[in-house]
Amino acid sequence: MPESSPPVRRSLFLHAPIRRGPRRMLEQMLALVDDDTPADGPQGPVAVLERRLAELLGKESALFFPSGTMAQQTALRVHADRLGRRTFAAHPQSHLDVWEEQGYNAVHRLRLRRTGDPHELMTAADLAAAAGEPLAAAVWELPQRDLGGLLPTWDELGEQVALVRATGAAAHLDGARLWEAQTYYRRPFDEIAALFDTVYVSLYKSLQGVRGAVLASDSATVEAARVWRQRLGGGIRDAWPLALAALVHLDTLAERMPAYREHAIAIAAAINADGAARAHPDPPQTPMFHVHLPAGRHAVERAGQEILAEHGIQLWGRVRSASEPGRSAFEVSVGENAMEFTPDEVVGLIHDVLARAR
Ligand SMILES: Cc1ncc(COP(=O)(O)O)c(C=O)c1O
Repeated sequence: MPESSPPVRRSLFLHAPIRRGPRRMLEQMLALVDDDTPADGPQGPVAVLERRLAELLGKESALFFPSGTMAQQTALRVHADRLGRRTFAAHPQSHLDVWEEQGYNAVHRLRLRRTGDPHELMTAADLAAAAGEPLAAAVWELPQRDLGGLLPTWDELGEQVALVRATGAAAHLDGARLWEAQTYYRRPFDEIAALFDTVYVSLYKSLQGVRGAVLASDSATVEAARVWRQRLGGGIRDAWPLALAALVHLDTLAERMPAYREHAIAIAAAINADGAARAHPDPPQTPMFHVHLPAGRHAVERAGQEILAEHGIQLWGRVRSASEPGRSAFEVSVGENAMEFTPDEVVGLIHDVLARAR
């Protein structure tokens, strides 16, 4: 959003500035420390966070990274070096391919085998075809953000992972939004993580920290990842503010998530009953879904700016273009911000957007 954007008073967008202002975050972080809390070492916030996440995910060890981008490329590099294979499979809409300037290749000389249809989830058949060439790893993004938070069923996921692992390849979880995925699978986090050799979770998405990531795995893999973290400049000392910010919501997030999912389902149902726009998937599987609009991206962006200026309401982080002209979409990811909007109010706002976008 441009610097000159009007102030946001209410927002449907998970990462709206209203809930992430520095003062509010610092107050929450302060509540977790006292005069004796060390910045570093085994009792410092980074080590505490790593232990807490290793335990939650049922892994031997976990390692802080400054970004998920670095954590995931590192995980794939470690798997590739261990197996002596350079190719990994991932969905065409994977963050690794779309948003990382092909770092897996530029930095690590890895090759991506794009697997599955860009607008559908990967299937076992897609993975079987990809595994025709020996894979170092396959990546599952749960939920698949750019498909509106879609997820394979638990049985499908198990079948896919087993198929890939039978070829000797590693299974890696892009769990940037694992808390969202868990609301659909309704299984303990460690049961979900047990399917995978390496698991990355984000510290700043639903956990609402500042930045950062954690990679969890067996101890040997984590130690190999630690070397790469250092090589890539990610072994930063004094990462404690990032770890502390992530610890703020760690205890309470999982219990709040089902209510977010229910609210997402209610909002999506109201949108689809109204019919002016279309919510997908229907019903949402997680607290996130897409709203598809019969109006082009630029007109919708302008309408959103007007609504923000007039009412202080932010409706999205970004508007996505569509292959069909005159259409666009935006993501709703329900957290505390979106809980403040009734389903009818969201429908009314969509009508307002469409009226302005004409
Ligand atoms: C699904 C997914 N994976 C990985 C990442 C990378 O995380 P980071 O921004 O910490 O590099 C993101 C960030 O948006 C993401 O959405």
